[in-house]
Amino acid sequence: MVHKILKWAVILCGFFFFRIVSSCQSTQVQLYHNAQLAPKHVQAKQAQGRLGMVATAHPLASQTAIRVLDLGGNAVDAAVAASFMISVVRPQSTGLGGGGFMILHHARQGLNKVFDFRERAPQQATQNMYLDHAGQPKPFVWQGKTYKSSSVDGGLAVAVPGLVDGLLRVHEQHGKLPLAALMEDAIRVAREGFLVYSSLAKASARRAPILAAVDASRRLFYPQGRPLQVGERLVQRDLAVTLEMIRDQGRAGFYQGKVAQQLTQSVRKYGGVLTQQDLDSYHMKERQPLMGRFKGSTLVTMPPPSSGGVHILQMLGILSQFDLSADRPGAVETVHLTAEIMRHAYADRARYLGDPDFVYVPVQELLAPDYLQAIAAQISRARATPSHELVHPDIQIPQESRSTTHVSIVDREGNAVSTTQTINHSFGSGVVAQGTGVVLNNEMDDFSVKPGVPNGFGLVGSEANKVAARKTMLSSMSPTIVLDKKGAVDMVLGAPGGPRIITAVFQVIVNRLQFKMDLYRAVQSLRLHHQWLPDKLMFEQTLLSPQDQVALQNLGHTVVQDPWFVGDIQAIAREGGRWVSVSDMRSEGVALAQ
Ligand code: DON
Repeated sequence: MVHKILKWAVILCGFFFFRIVSSCQSTQVQLYHNAQLAPKHVQAKQAQGRLGMVATAHPLASQTAIRVLDLGGNAVDAAVAASFMISVVRPQSTGLGGGGFMILHHARQGLNKVFDFRERAPQQATQNMYLDHAGQPKPFVWQGKTYKSSSVDGGLAVAVPGLVDGLLRVHEQHGKLPLAALMEDAIRVAREGFLVYSSLAKASARRAPILAAVDASRRLFYPQGRPLQVGERLVQRDLAVTLEMIRDQGRAGFYQGKVAQQLTQSVRKYGGVLTQQDLDSYHMKERQPLMGRFKGSTLVTMPPPSSGGVHILQMLGILSQFDLSADRPGAVETVHLTAEIMRHAYADRARYLGDPDFVYVPVQELLAPDYLQAIAAQISRARATPSHELVHPDIQIPQESRSTTHVSIVDREGNAVSTTQTINHSFGSGVVAQGTGVVLNNEMDDFSVKPGVPNGFGLVGSEANKVAARKTMLSSMSPTIVLDKKGAVDMVLGAPGGPRIITAVFQVIVNRLQFKMDLYRAVQSLRLHHQWLPDKLMFEQTLLSPQDQVALQNLGHTVVQDPWFVGDIQAIAREGGRWVSVSDMRSEGVALAQ
């Protein structure tokens, strides 16, 4: 009997898998195809419904969000529950030791709110803290061994965590259900464990040196002298207790008392400068949303200290200056134009963007129609402009993390939450605070440690993003909500991917609003990326045929096929009178409907 049921299940799954793959092949658009995902996951990449909708980067986080919506929770409740759960099941990407941004659209009041609970530099941070006496970036050294840069590995990489303060404050202000109901699932999964999946196992192998060096990290993520293995159970009892302290004591359960003491002690043991005063003075900031228009829609997106919103709007604004009637996604002419637009935007990012509480960020100037027209006028459709002709010399991009995560939620009243959260690189600084299960971020690497020296994502920065005490490091995280002509939610989206977040969100918006793709295609279409420096047009999988690559080389591009395109978009959109949620095929997320 069981055998028969299994057989039918396999046949049905195979049928749906075939339908999706064959429908992908019948269009001009090339879609991402993750052959490693089982057919049952393929089905969960898209959901349709008329009530609440969810897309997150892990099935358990999507399920807990739906459960909270079923209990009568609103989009904020569901997002908070999903965030705590994702902290447990994606410890490589985000967690209590990290931070993030959230955009909330309140349907009845027609209000858009932006919450910045990103990490901030400790009070003892200084401009040259990551440089040695010769002015060169210094590595982290522990027990005679040398690890990566001190802004990446070890205690000095850790910035003051903001996630807990942010989630609690947003919940207090806008949630409906009690916190305990939202945290219940996360606490249970931390205590009872969950099965390790491929990208978690791979991340623990990639960060093995630092994870093995730090006592509390080794016990969790490098057990028995080896990285985590797919299929084994990851139990995080200390984390369950920390979550219970937060549930019972609120902010004080994390920023004061035993947990706080463990956080500061562990950071200092591994060379960092985090103090109790840093934790006491951390407070989420509410900011004004950055708004812009494209194709009749209104975009509500993330202002600085994210660079995401500014450059998404900038790129859409430049794109609007061109006649796109003959363009189609993936065509050489369109890829060339898109890459040129990206190149210009990232040159500005390196030069002007930083924490607006510390430096003047010329947002209005960067988005002024005259300025966008002037950039568009510099772009030739027949020739690539080498990046060094725009500004600085070339630099190398190292391959790094598959971290960060995004949650998109819509509830039955049309409220929407778009939130991106991170500890920066996979497993952040590699430091788990003793006895707490909290993985501490390495967000300090998002500062520019020295002008012209690339960070872990190959991004260069300038004065605007140099380190200073209590300053917020520049981010690319771009939670975004698109409103239709009547001001109702039309699309909710965001992604991880460091600098590729901005270009991924941009391409999905263009796919949907310019090229009129449905949400599934808009998300799964192959992408490209250019970030000014290094001067490379990076493309995904088979986006460019060998002939197209030659054509782009002839236009002056250095084209590189790059396997690292973990955009992992989580998106929701209105389609034909109902909602559709879509989770990127590039990772293991799940889209659900209430
Ligand atoms: O805030 C930022 O831009 C980075 N810390 C995000 C890191 C990230 O997306 C890593 N994921 N792949």
